[in-house]
This record gives sequence, structure tokens and C-alpha cells, in this order.
Amino acid sequence: MKFGLLEATLLGAASVASAKELAYSPPFYPSPWMTGAGDWAEAHRRAVEFVSNLTLAEKVNLTTGAGWEQERCVGETGGIPRLGMWGMCMQDSPLGVRDSDYNSGFSAGINVAATWDKRLAYARGMAMGEEHRDKGVDVQLGPVAGPLGKNPDGGRVWEGFSPDPVLTGVMMAETIKGMQDAGIIACAKHFIGNEQEHFRQAGEAQGYGYNITESVSSNIDDTTMHELYLWPFVDAVRAGVGSIMCSYNQINNSYGCSNSYTLNKLLKSELGFQGFVMSDWGAHHSGVGDALAGLDMSMPGDVILGSPYSFWGTNLTISVLNNTIPEWRIDDMATRIMAAYYKVGRDRHRTPPNFSSWTRDEYGYEHFIVNENFVKLNERVNVQRDHANVIRKIGADSTVLLKNNGGLPLTHNEKFIGILGEDAGSNPYGANGCADRGCDNGTLAMGWGSGSANFPYLITPEQAIQNEVLNYGNGQTNVFSVTDNGATDQIADIASQSSAALVFVNADSGEGFINVDGNEGDRKNMTLWKNGEAVIKAASENCNNTIVIMHTPSAVLIDDWYLNPNITAILWAGLPGQESGRSLVDVLYGRVNPGAKTPFTWGKTRAAYGAPILTEPNNGIGAPQDDFTDGVYIDYRRFDKDEVEPIYEFGFGMSYTDFDFSDLKVKSLKADKYVKTTGWTKAAPILGKVGPISEYLFPSGIKRVTQYLYPWLNSTDLKASSGDPYYGERTDQYVPAGATNGSSQPLLPASGANGGNSGLFEDLIEITATIHNTGKLAGDEVPQLYVSLGGPNDPPKVLRAFDRVNIAAGEKLQWTATLTRRDLSSWDVPAQNWVVTDHAKKVYVGNSSRKLPLSADLPRVQ
Ligand SMILES: *[C@@H]1O[C@H](CO)[C@@H](O)[C@H](O)[C@H]1NC(C)=O
Ligand SMILES: *[C@@H]1O[C@H](CO)[C@@H](O)[C@H](O)[C@H]1NC(C)=O
Ligand SMILES: *[C@@H]1O[C@H](CO)[C@@H](O)[C@H](O)[C@H]1NC(C)=O
Ligand SMILES: *[C@@H]1O[C@H](CO)[C@@H](O)[C@H](O)[C@H]1NC(C)=O
Ligand SMILES: *[C@@H]1O[C@H](CO)[C@@H](O)[C@H](O)[C@H]1NC(C)=O
Ligand SMILES: *[C@@H]1O[C@H](CO)[C@@H](O)[C@H](O)[C@H]1NC(C)=O
Ligand SMILES: *[C@@H]1O[C@H](CO)[C@@H](O)[C@H](O)[C@H]1NC(C)=O
Ligand SMILES: *[C@@H]1O[C@H](CO)[C@@H](O)[C@H](O)[C@H]1NC(C)=O
Ligand SMILES: *[C@@H]1O[C@H](CO)[C@@H](O)[C@H](O)[C@H]1NC(C)=O
Ligand SMILES: *[C@@H]1O[C@H](CO)[C@@H](O)[C@H](O)[C@H]1NC(C)=O
Ligand SMILES: *[C@@H]1O[C@H](CO)[C@@H](O)[C@H](O)[C@H]1NC(C)=O
Repeated sequence: MKFGLLEATLLGAASVASAKELAYSPPFYPSPWMTGAGDWAEAHRRAVEFVSNLTLAEKVNLTTGAGWEQERCVGETGGIPRLGMWGMCMQDSPLGVRDSDYNSGFSAGINVAATWDKRLAYARGMAMGEEHRDKGVDVQLGPVAGPLGKNPDGGRVWEGFSPDPVLTGVMMAETIKGMQDAGIIACAKHFIGNEQEHFRQAGEAQGYGYNITESVSSNIDDTTMHELYLWPFVDAVRAGVGSIMCSYNQINNSYGCSNSYTLNKLLKSELGFQGFVMSDWGAHHSGVGDALAGLDMSMPGDVILGSPYSFWGTNLTISVLNNTIPEWRIDDMATRIMAAYYKVGRDRHRTPPNFSSWTRDEYGYEHFIVNENFVKLNERVNVQRDHANVIRKIGADSTVLLKNNGGLPLTHNEKFIGILGEDAGSNPYGANGCADRGCDNGTLAMGWGSGSANFPYLITPEQAIQNEVLNYGNGQTNVFSVTDNGATDQIADIASQSSAALVFVNADSGEGFINVDGNEGDRKNMTLWKNGEAVIKAASENCNNTIVIMHTPSAVLIDDWYLNPNITAILWAGLPGQESGRSLVDVLYGRVNPGAKTPFTWGKTRAAYGAPILTEPNNGIGAPQDDFTDGVYIDYRRFDKDEVEPIYEFGFGMSYTDFDFSDLKVKSLKADKYVKTTGWTKAAPILGKVGPISEYLFPSGIKRVTQYLYPWLNSTDLKASSGDPYYGERTDQYVPAGATNGSSQPLLPASGANGGNSGLFEDLIEITATIHNTGKLAGDEVPQLYVSLGGPNDPPKVLRAFDRVNIAAGEKLQWTATLTRRDLSSWDVPAQNWVVTDHAKKVYVGNSSRKLPLSADLPRVQ
């Protein structure tokens, strides 16, 4: 840690010295207009028909939130009353309906990744989608691929899936499909480079005493962007995701929602994204500029949460009326939003929001922030269905068995079970007792921040184990728990009598707006919380059958104790959600044979993971500069490159049975040659007609809600209506060259289909391997296929395919996987395209990133 701090200080000095040469994001204009490519054609057609009929003010209403806490959802756009359409509801979170009731508290994304099970990712997406749908939500704000997980101690890594882009990409896609098949719009976030909580927003950082005026800049080179951070967003776009959220941080010193390179070029041109881009809450930084840079929806609408001003709303109407924003651009925003709406069937599935994010009271103010219009707010609709089952299954199927020297499974023949550690028990404040789960009291089943949801109940390990012993045992087992981590004497005493001492420890993290015990979102260290090490010590010194269970958002340092011979088993249970205890008991007692694999690396030190989180501003009061010097080498790629031995490698996890891999076969498939895309887009369509200014005045006969963000003008004097002292000035600074040009534009070589050039997704090679369950129990195995791309700048190996299969005892299964051109390509910066290099390539198959018994050379492909 000392080394990390020193390094950060040196970097700081270097950056200040070279402040004039800060990383730069090249402009890319105009903002690409929607084309209806791929399976968006029908949705596009309907959206065009709908938008063609709208007035400018109605289009603007679709793009702008009504203001923070003005409506029931965490964000809500204006409606189109003329056509019977109420505003669109945006609601957190990636693991359930946030700020609601009678909803489920699902397992976190990191647990979904640990299952390596696409079917469970889809099932969870569908279940969450149903709950949002029935609460009246239009857009569920998830899933997460940013943070990807560059920093194991990054506050929000658990909301996403895994630092591996392929594992994350597959889980993103399946989650999105499930959510959207349920009839709601998914929102892939946070785009992009949002890898740490520190400095993500200047205002928040000031609140912690950091004197900075701009958000952190994630400085990412083009290759790393394509081969790592953008990768899972490609899968999201291919899965048809309806919306994408731009992030708080800057990329190369241009804000996530103002960055024409990331939004116009990468997302909308190269990946051909057809849905809409919405801002993170308060990540919108300019009116005209962000519209031209590719932002389509301002959330929650106000300049600063709770202020009566908007960059859009009235301002957007004026920007079109004064010809600063071309009409085709506002048409494109509205078309993208409505296309996403039709694509997932919102027109068939819609009910108005029946809950309020701001109070659990049944009655309250509709316009909560200004105390206006007292109504029934919470209908308390139960949307949980039988989703407990999928949560319990994900919990069990994501519990990774890291060590087992005979400690597990338990048999019910134990005379005495000790349950030790605060993490086994209830939160004395109640499961939802800390707002947004912003504390670490009792068992940990969810991280903190906007990525959380209220629990309908939370089954603790203590409850579930006691229930198991007393109701399903042989009546001969005694069971005791000590859940005060300070009570080490009592813990030692119980441990010394235990046939099995189950020790529960945790570490927590979350979003930057909440500080828990000095952790400003990001974890301030990689050790256990609440003296977890002391609990383990007290137990393991006194019981030679100590079993450690960890609830953590990612890796923690376990080097001091994991080899202790008295510790006979170690489980990582992640953040399992409401069924925590039941899921765990399924694994402890062998009803579920563990098949999970760790979706991240367990290193001996934090330094082994690469660059530390930037925790001190290094650019004076300007934007802290976070150079992504690790490049594509994060997590196992870094350990492989540095030849550092991890404790438990990425992809590792044990079972109660054994598997053997054999018979690797490699077959070339017939495929077309890769053709770079050439040609031009059509010109931007203009839908409808903008009327005279007088048509957009605030209508008489409508009661104005205080502070509400409307699309209308106060007067025909545009300057006065804008309320902007700088109105009409410095236009050249926010209307970059080419930004208003609606004529046809050249296509990028790597573009074409949804997600990029269709040649990238062609299958080139088929791989088969045989997996043999050589043990005496049926079980799940996760075959993993890694590729070495062979170049001097390529990681030693990268995950490219995986599956989760169930095999009966003694049985064999033939597993087949295919490699696409994308899987074998590297990003070529000068060509701005993917290329299969001439370097010799290899394939490896096995059941962890370091247990790869099978390997073969790959045939030459192009
Ligand atoms: C950031 O700058 C690097 C280095 O010049 C460049 O490779 C990359 O494409 C830039 N990315 C963005 C989003 O501007
Ligand atoms: C457009 O508006 C006209 C007149 O209000 C109506 O007849 C027509 O059905 C509308 N079309 C759509 C697509 O909403
Ligand atoms: C914009 O939305 C608000 C809130 O739904 C509504 O009151 C207003 O009438 C809408 N404006 C237009 C032009 O439809
Ligand atoms: C922040 O830094 C600026 C420039 O160094 C300084 O003028 C200002 O007083 C500082 N503000 C605080 C609150 O420390
Ligand atoms: C328009 O945007 C400017 C910032 O560019 C802001 O100062 C002004 O208050 C906004 N106008 C309205 C009506 O919200
Ligand atoms: C619960 O959490 C709060 C907030 O972190 C903390 O102050 C309090 O001590 C905790 N209480 C218990 C009983 O753990
Ligand atoms: C690490 O942080 C946790 C949570 O704030 C704290 O409980 C623990 O004592 C810290 N570890 C060390 C070694 O300081
Ligand atoms: C292991 O547990 C036994 C009690 O069963 C104890 O005597 C011994 O000291 C422990 N060993 C370690 C390394 O703590
Ligand atoms: C563990 O401790 C128990 C009870 O103290 C003892 O019977 C058993 O032999 C020990 N096992 C090992 C492997 O040391
Ligand atoms: C427009 O009028 C409303 C109501 O009088 C007022 O609250 C608002 O500040 C005005 N907007 C501007 C930009 O002057
Ligand atoms: C057009 O309107 C926008 C929004 O109020 C304003 O920011 C911009 O300065 C105006 N441009 C011109 C050229 O008047």
C-alpha cells in the first residue's frame, strides 16, 4: 500500500508538469441518425410514424426529465397528453426495483458472473424485468459493464459482472434479453471508463474535501478501449439494448455525456447503436454541446439535482427554434427513444407507475420535491411472484468452493455446529434499516448505493443453518451462534466445542455518494471488515474443522489464513440477495454440488492487480488524470503477464466431484472473407415541421407545477425565455465543425450491423472437448476456452468461450464451442478496424485460467 501511495504522488507531480498536454478526445460529428438496421426495422418504422406526428414541444418532452423528485420514479420524462401518453419512467437498479416495496432483492451481477450460467442470467433478467414492468417502469437502469473491474477495490464492481470482457459481455447480453423479453427497456451503463468512485463527480469529491472543479478523466488508448472496455457494450448492442447511460467521468478530458468520440463515433457509428443515450443523474453538462455530441435524454432533467433549471426542456426547444440544433437531431433523439419503446413492446405492456421512490407512505405529494398534489402514491403491488426460486438458485450456483480439505459437505452427523461472526446474523437496524444499504451491519447480501433494492425479507445464514439443523437433521445436533465480532472469547469457546465452526466474514463497497466507515464508495483497503481476521483466528485456533464463508463485493486479502490446516473449507458467496442463507445451506449440506467459479482473481497483494485507485487529485484543481496504464492487462491478464502466482486464479472453483478434460479437436469452418464496410449513410430525415415561436409558449389553462421542467417558452423573446445570461454567445465553442451537417456521411470500416461489422460475428473455428465426471456425484462443470492471439502486445491468453454443464457421476459429455472472427482479432489502430494478425495462435481448454490441460495450435484464418 505504501508503494501505491508513493507512486500516486509521483504520477501527480508528472501530470501537473505536463498539464498542457492532457489526453485529448478528437471530435466526431455529426451525431449519427438512426437507420433501423438489423432487428430494429419495425420499431424504427413505428417510431418514425409516431414522431412524424409530434410537435417540437412534444419531442422535447420525450428527451427531458421533469426534474428530480418531481414524479414517482428516479427519473421521468414529460408525456404527450394529446396522444394519451404519460411520461417514461426510469428506475434503478441492476438488481431489482429500487426505492419500492413488495419487490425482490436479487443477487448482484458479480454472483451472476460466478455462476457462468447464461440461462440463469437470462432468467434473472426476465424476473427483474417482470417486476419493473408491473411496477410501471419503462426503463430499468441496468445491467452494468462499467465499471468492468479494473480495480478490485472499485466501489461498484459488484453491480457489474467480471473484469473479463467476454464473461461480462455474455452476461450483459443474456440479462438484457431477459429484461427486454419481459417488456421493459434495459439500460447498459455506465458508458464508459467509469472504473472508480473517487472524483467521478467534482461536486461529490468537494463534499469529501477534495478541491477539484472537474470530474476525473479516464485516459484510455484506442486499443484498450476496443479490446477491453468497449467489448461488453458491443454485446449489449448486439442483444438489442434499448438505452445506454453515459457516465459521470470524463474520457480523455471530455465528459462521458459530452464526448462525441465515444458517443457519436464508437457507439452510434461504429457499433451502430440504434437506441437512445441517457445521461447519468447530473452527468449532463451542456445544452447544445451534449445534444450534438450524441446525448438523447437528459436525466433527471435539471442542471443540478433539485434545481429549477435545465440544459434541455425549454432550452432545447429554443435551440431548435434558433437553428443551433438542427431539426433532424431532435427528431433523431425522439425517434431513438420511441423505437426502444416499440422494440420491447412498451405499447402493449404499459401501466402507470404505482409506487413512489421518495416515500413508503401510502399517501403523499405527487410532486414530492415541491410538496404539491397530495395523492395515493404507493399501491403496494406485490410483484415478487416465485422469483425467490431463481434468487436461491443463483445464490447456490454462484457460491464458489475455494478450498475443501474434507470440511464440506456437512452431513447432519455433526454433534455441534458453531455459527460465528456478525456476518452470519441479522442487521439490528433491520434488513433495509440503512438507506440504500449504506452500512455493514449483520450479514451482507447487497452492496450500497443506487445499485441496491429494498429486501422483501433477508434470510440470514444463522437463520437458515439453524432451521436446517433443527428441521432436517437427526435431532442430535446442537447449534449455537456468536454474532458479535468483538466477542472473541465467546467465539473461541464455541469454536472449541464445535464439530464444525462456520465462520462468517465480509467486506463491503458501494456508490460514492455514501461513505461507510471511511470508504468513499471505493474500498479504502482490501482486508476484511469488522475485524474479520480476528474472528477467523479465534475460531481456527480452537477448532480443527473451521469453515470460512465470505460475503464480499470482489477479492479480499486472505493470504494470512487461507493455508491454515484447521481451515478445512473456504466459500465465497458474493452478494447473494434475499435468499442468502437458504442458498448457502444448499451448498453446505450438498443438496447443491458447487459448480461456481470465481469471476475475478484472488491475489496475494493489492499491488499485484496493477495501478491503484487514484485517491489524491493529481492535476491541481483541474480534472484528476487517471491514465489507464494497465492497458488491456487487468485481473488475470495482469497476473499472467507479470508471471505472478495468485492465490485462487480467475475461473477457479471446486466441486464435490472431479472432472477430467480430454480429446480436444479443432476444426476450421467455411467462412467468407472479412470485408471492411464502405459507402455512405443516407441523409438525415426530418420528421414534421417546426411551427412559429408563438406555438411553443406556455399554454394558458395549464397549472404550472413549481420547478417542473416543461418544454415551453415564457415569451417569444428567445433570449429572455432561455434565462441564460450567455445566450447566443460563444456559439463556436459548442457547435463544432460539421456538427449540424445532416447530409450523408461515410461509413466506418468496422461498422455495419448492430454491434459492428457483421464479418466479426461469423464463426471461423469449431472446438470440441470431452469432459468426464470421474467422481461419485453428479455435478456442474464450467468448461473454459482461452485463446492466445500470439502478438507481442497480446495477453498470454484471453477467455473466449465457456458454458456450464451438468454431468452425471461417471458420465462423459462432449462440449462444443465456436470462435468468431471477433474472438481471433486484434484492434488495428491505423486501419481503425479489426484484423486477424499473422501471429501463431493457440487454444486452451480446461476449468480455470490456470488449469488448462488441453491445448492446440489454431489453423490460419482471415
Ligand atoms: C484518447 O486518447 C488516446 C491517445 O491519444 C487515443 O488513442 C484514444 O482514441 C482517445 N480516446 C477517446 C475516447 O478520445
Ligand atoms: C397523427 O395525428 C392525427 C391527427 O391527430 C391522427 O389522426 C393520427 O392517427 C396520428 N398518427 C399517429 C401515428 O399518431
Ligand atoms: C410535457 O409533459 C408534461 C408532463 O407530463 C405535460 O404536463 C405537458 O403537457 C407535456 N407537454 C406537451 C407539449 O405535451
Ligand atoms: C481550491 O483551490 C484553489 C486554487 O488553488 C484555491 O484558490 C481555493 O481557495 C481552494 N478552495 C478550497 C476550499 O480549499
Ligand atoms: C438554459 O440553460 C442554461 C445553461 O446553459 C441555464 O443557465 C438556464 O437556466 C436554462 N434555462 C432554463 C429555462 O432552464
Ligand atoms: C449499524 O450501522 C451504522 C452505520 O454504519 C453504525 O453506526 C452502527 O454502529 C451499526 N450498528 C450495529 C448494531 O452494528
Ligand atoms: C479496512 O477497512 C475496513 C472497513 O472500513 C476496516 O474495518 C478495517 O479495519 C480496515 N483494515 C485495516 C487493516 O485498516
Ligand atoms: C487447530 O485446532 C486445534 C484444536 O482442534 C488446536 O489445538 C491447534 O492449535 C489449531 N492449530 C492452529 C494452527 O491454529
Ligand atoms: C480434530 O479435533 C478433534 C476434536 O478435538 C479430534 O477428535 C480430531 O482427531 C482432530 N482431527 C484432526 C485431523 O486433527
Ligand atoms: C418562466 O416563468 C415562470 C413562471 O412565472 C418562472 O418561474 C420562470 O423562472 C420563468 N423562466 C425564465 C427563464 O424566466
Ligand atoms: C440558441 O439557444 C440555446 C438555448 O437557449 C442557447 O444556448 C444558444 O446560445 C442559442 N444560440 C444562438 C445562436 O442564439
